Amino acid sequence: MFMKERMKPKVNVLTFPSEAELNAAAAGLIVGLIQTKPDAVLGLATGGTPIGIYEELVAAYRKKLVSFRRVVTFNLDEYVGLAPGHPQSYRSYMRRHLFDHIDADPARIHIPDSTAARPEEECARYDALLAAAGRIDLQLLGIGHNGHIGFNEPDRSLPFGTHVVRLAEQTRAANARFFASPEEVPTHAITMGVGPILHARTVLLIAKGADKADILYRALTGEITTECPASLLQLHPRLIVMADQEAGRRFR
Ligand code: GLP
Repeated sequence: MFMKERMKPKVNVLTFPSEAELNAAAAGLIVGLIQTKPDAVLGLATGGTPIGIYEELVAAYRKKLVSFRRVVTFNLDEYVGLAPGHPQSYRSYMRRHLFDHIDADPARIHIPDSTAARPEEECARYDALLAAAGRIDLQLLGIGHNGHIGFNEPDRSLPFGTHVVRLAEQTRAANARFFASPEEVPTHAITMGVGPILHARTVLLIAKGADKADILYRALTGEITTECPASLLQLHPRLIVMADQEAGRRFR
């Protein structure tokens, strides 16, 4: 028992007194990276969690602290079955919260195209783009209530690369708050696989709110299993975890 404990490095969770301080710290890390590496490759997330971080990035851009002109971005995922331009597509989300407000080069922005006639071909295309870009420098991640990262849902095994996934009912229920009715939440998505996520040079995992406390604790201290995809992050050599008081409470 003692040996087991000793061999497992403890994941350091940075807990912030307020959401504003967390957002500022996370954005500061990203801005610092771009200042030292203007052509950095960023892996970007959606959902409620990163919105405040994107607001801080926009603020830094407006203060001329950073330029995104040469930055390359890859979004984790996209819903299947939403019309192009649907306000809840992740493409619309990214424009609304970040891309419309900064100087990012559209040619360097990548989001899976879930309107593609052949989704498997789109997955292969996305993986080829990721491979051509090299390693992601910083992967921003939220965590789902069931431990999903991107839309890699708990399963007996997980693919390395981009794939079409059937969304867990728990995930659809959690995301129903963004749609007019729960039935409108798509049943499928295209998601980046865990391969490129775990290959990222740095992973920045963000958790906010009391409803994330248990899954964050389980993911970072429990057994490593594809049944909790975020638990794979325990294997990452440069994992930074930022939580607010509520989500980080089990680590105090
Ligand atoms: C979403 C996204 C994930 C996100 C997670 C948590 O559906 N696909 O990338 O990290 O689920 O979402 P939220 O931040 O809204 O809690």
